[in-house]
Amino acid sequence: MTSQRHYSPADRLLMQADAALRTLLPFSGQPARPSPAVLKNETELSESETRHVAGLMRINHTGEVCAQALYQGQALTARLPQVRQAMEQAADEEIDHLAWCEQRIRQLGSHTSVLNPLFYGLSFGIGASAGLISDRISLGFVAATEDQVCKHLDDHLSQLPAEDEKSRAILEQMREDEAQHSTAAIAAGGLRFPAPIKFGMSLVSKVMTKATYRI
Ligand SMILES: [Fe+2]
Ligand SMILES: [Fe+2]
Repeated sequence: MTSQRHYSPADRLLMQADAALRTLLPFSGQPARPSPAVLKNETELSESETRHVAGLMRINHTGEVCAQALYQGQALTARLPQVRQAMEQAADEEIDHLAWCEQRIRQLGSHTSVLNPLFYGLSFGIGASAGLISDRISLGFVAATEDQVCKHLDDHLSQLPAEDEKSRAILEQMREDEAQHSTAAIAAGGLRFPAPIKFGMSLVSKVMTKATYRI
């Protein structure tokens, strides 16, 4: 008997459906770490500030839905077992971000994006395709995506009202985690993507951010 567990295609399909539902259904992801926001006081925001912050947090939440889908897609097609394991572990860590963003959006009296299933499907396809090409491309894609997310987070941190300490605490912790994910992906053998590919990725993410800020 080997220590490695073998799953049939049907098992994998069911596990995949379970992961997708846990990503897309409200409050179904259980964070391993409490939200950094719990240590901060809630402060009064104006109506327009509340709407703006909710829009920013909705973008970040959808970004985390995409991260889940990407990692799950990559785990499905990764060749090396250690790469598959790394992807599954990364997806677990991102559940914290997903849950923290969702909690904050609800506190602000708003909702997550209705477009999440669409972006989940697209990202899953991209992740699975990258994994099919090679593990190095797959890891490189993680690094490039995380770099992109860091840029977004910096931009959002600069846009937050100074008094919104709760949202700031969440985004700062996410910024730290994402930078670490990028470094880890390169250290694990990820390819550094050339600038034109990164530019293409930033265009795609612009479409996502424009759409999910409102809906
Ligand atoms: Fe994340
Ligand atoms: Fe990440």
